[in-house]
Amino acid sequence: MATARVYLVGAGPGDPELLTVKAARLVACADVILYDRLVPPAILSLARPGAELVYVGKEDGCAQETQRRIFTELAMNALRGRTVVRLKGGDPMVFGRGAEEWAFLSQLGVAVELVPGISSAVAVPALASIPLTARGVARSFAVATGHAKEGEPQHWEAFAEVDTLVILMGVKHRTSIATTLIAVGRNPLEPCAFIESGSTENEQVVIATLEEVAAGATDVASPAVWVCGQVVALRDQLRGSGAAAQASFEPQNPWLDVPAAHLPGLF
Ligand SMILES: C[S@@+](CC[C@H](N)C(=O)[O-])C[C@H]1O[C@@H](n2cnc3c(N)ncnc32)[C@H](O)[C@@H]1O
Repeated sequence: MATARVYLVGAGPGDPELLTVKAARLVACADVILYDRLVPPAILSLARPGAELVYVGKEDGCAQETQRRIFTELAMNALRGRTVVRLKGGDPMVFGRGAEEWAFLSQLGVAVELVPGISSAVAVPALASIPLTARGVARSFAVATGHAKEGEPQHWEAFAEVDTLVILMGVKHRTSIATTLIAVGRNPLEPCAFIESGSTENEQVVIATLEEVAAGATDVASPAVWVCGQVVALRDQLRGSGAAAQASFEPQNPWLDVPAAHLPGLF
């Protein structure tokens, strides 16, 4: 008898063209696909006719119950010998409970093959012209969740010194998170960007300082990736706008100092 197997697959940030070749191949041959809230219809449309598509997105208040259902569906379908794809937004191992599902299936003797996806944590800022690192501006970045498990303390002081801080699932509690970040030592004037629905046609970018976020002055819709740090101000330069931002970064930004002689034909 063939070994029961589940493919734990990352769907990327939303744009179907950002799916990996392997993910697209597996979606196209699966018997059953268990998919999350952030997997768009355009990706599901790659499934073969007759494939069973099972929505297992988590809604507020019933996450535990949904997770139990996911475990049951995964196990039952795999043990029946079906080709099972567990499709998650972004990368399955970045705030995706991929490790929990993998461990559960391993205990049952079900083989798991992981297919990494492009995580929203890095791709969504990049697509919005915000690099997470940039020479002379940011040499480190960290990714944190804004949605800690109840009773589990979030150690925001650990993120006081990192150059660029990326927060996922931070929209709901952004005011209190920003207040805490200022209290632990982040610069109240540092720029923040919230990139909503990155890589999709509904993408929107909201820019504010950390103290404006703390004051409740931002209107942001989920899902959004929240970036805090001076790299946010580079966005105008990459997009070719914002002379003021360019002026403020010129002294510390080595790549703006390329002499005209090194760019033959451009001047
Ligand atoms: C449960 S986490 C899953 C993260 C996912 N595993 C990843 O690697 O991107 C969901 C959060 O990811 C972020 N997110 C995922 N896709 C996004 C997108 N296309 N645009 C903006 N934020 C996104 C949001 O912060 C959202 O609340």
